[in-house]
Amino acid sequence: MPERIFIGVAWPYANGPLHMGHIAGCYLAADIFARYHRMKGNEVLMVSGSDAHGTPITIRADQEGVEPSVILDRYHAQFLDTWQRLGITFDLFTTTHTENHQRVVQDIFKRLQEQDYIYADTMLLAHCAGCSRFLPDRYVEGTCPRCGNDRARGDQCDNCGHTLDPIELVEPRCSICNETPDFRDSEHFFLRLSAFEQSLLNWIGDKEFWRPNVANSTRGFLQGGLKDRAISRDLTWGVPLPMEGYEGKRIYVWFEAVIGYLSAAVEWAERSGNPDAWEDFWKDAETKAYYFIGKDNIPFHSIIWPAMIMAYGGLNLPYDVPANEFLSLENRKFSTSQNWALWVPDYLDRYDPDPLRYMLSINMPETGDTDFSWNEFVRRNNDELVATYGNLVNRVLRFTYRNFDGQVPVAPAPPEDAEVALLDSARQAMADVDNSLYHTRFRAGISRAFALAQESNRYLDSRAPWQSIKTDRADAARSLGTAIQVLNCLKVILSPYLPFTSQKLHEFLGFDGDVSSEPWDFDALVAGIKPGAPLRNPSALYTKLDAAVAEQEAEQLGVPA
Ligand code: MF3
Ligand code: ZN
Repeated sequence: MPERIFIGVAWPYANGPLHMGHIAGCYLAADIFARYHRMKGNEVLMVSGSDAHGTPITIRADQEGVEPSVILDRYHAQFLDTWQRLGITFDLFTTTHTENHQRVVQDIFKRLQEQDYIYADTMLLAHCAGCSRFLPDRYVEGTCPRCGNDRARGDQCDNCGHTLDPIELVEPRCSICNETPDFRDSEHFFLRLSAFEQSLLNWIGDKEFWRPNVANSTRGFLQGGLKDRAISRDLTWGVPLPMEGYEGKRIYVWFEAVIGYLSAAVEWAERSGNPDAWEDFWKDAETKAYYFIGKDNIPFHSIIWPAMIMAYGGLNLPYDVPANEFLSLENRKFSTSQNWALWVPDYLDRYDPDPLRYMLSINMPETGDTDFSWNEFVRRNNDELVATYGNLVNRVLRFTYRNFDGQVPVAPAPPEDAEVALLDSARQAMADVDNSLYHTRFRAGISRAFALAQESNRYLDSRAPWQSIKTDRADAARSLGTAIQVLNCLKVILSPYLPFTSQKLHEFLGFDGDVSSEPWDFDALVAGIKPGAPLRNPSALYTKLDAAVAEQEAEQLGVPA
């Protein structure tokens, strides 16, 4: 029975290009997962979009002296280009600045208001006399009341991860002019989160399969008690409140951005010509909803969004929130302001997408932080992609192409022990990678596939067809034919990770069409290699990088562009 899988991926703020940290945080994992499920014949809807509102965009617009929509349009277009070049296959990547999104958000707001889950009250808001304005949450800095970090922001503490209100900060200061803000009454709307404490506890009770970091931090937040949260702000950029008299206020960016998961599904359905199609993904309880995010977004997806869904009623809660930890760059935190970042468009101007996908898969910050260094990138590219996998593909296919008239060799049955053992191993690897991907263990999956490549290299070394061909052509045919069958399996289990080079390998093996339509089925793949079938003249899948590349690239880091 095919499964139905909804995949929501964190909405990046459209205020600058994407860097490696974003890709390692959620986009690559989500894409691997989506590709895997599509290959398994499951029905997948993967959506996200540009987070268009909020202070990150307005700060940038202020700096450049342009309208926020100019910033949004620029980076949204760039994101779309990046997804295409990196092979991130969204079914829809939209923005939160659409009429559809506004309608869905306002509908939810009104329904929650009717049910008294949203109520009006006055709140004390940070007002800066120096800047003579109310300060957005992020513009207020101070000491975190929970962990003592003195660089906490009014929306969140990056040290302990707790979400905050500016008024909770100890010794608050204005991040623009450093003055101490005073707090003034302002009328706002609040989400009655406190009403969902028990339901949320019950809901996460059976989520033992969640990653420990996500489960633990979610329980931690709940144990601390849930307070109602303000969900409107004094701003003029964002989704308007759905009633008269609040023209100077907007719905808080986090409240509306998470609703993007639903509104994007609605937009996707409309565009697909079947406007009700979103309901299968949101109302059928059999559908599993996964949210791929970075760890700084955990409470919004494991607490606030679920509470909103419970309040609204009738929609699917998250099934899993496989959040990744952080990637650092040469052992330092990514920092846009210090230009300590690797921008994805820059990378793609200079290198191929699959080596990056490989590096960030084998090194994914799944259960702990990991580091990207150029040295490691070059080493893994040369030792693992080129020397292990690329070399396997190359020597098998080149040798066969030249010595067997460009055709799959006709191997005499039955296979010998070494062949039986290698094929058993390939069958097992296909099952293992399947199982890892199903459980969102991406590192384990790619390591297992590469272990099969390594084993195949050892097999070839010991069977040495380049020797046996001189004395026993049938034996060479047997070992090469078997290796080709294993390559046919490898192209499938690696294609969620390495889609571009898997497609190439698929073509070298003589096939047309898209590798992603191939079955995840050992017997079918082995049978698909037909003796006498034409192969294509292969070229190298990967390119060796000079060690100097690592030095040059590392030197460029932190240098203002
Ligand atoms: N834009 C946010 C960030 O970059 C993520 C928003 S995820 C969403 O941290 F679900 F709220 F959209
Ligand atoms: Zn100020």
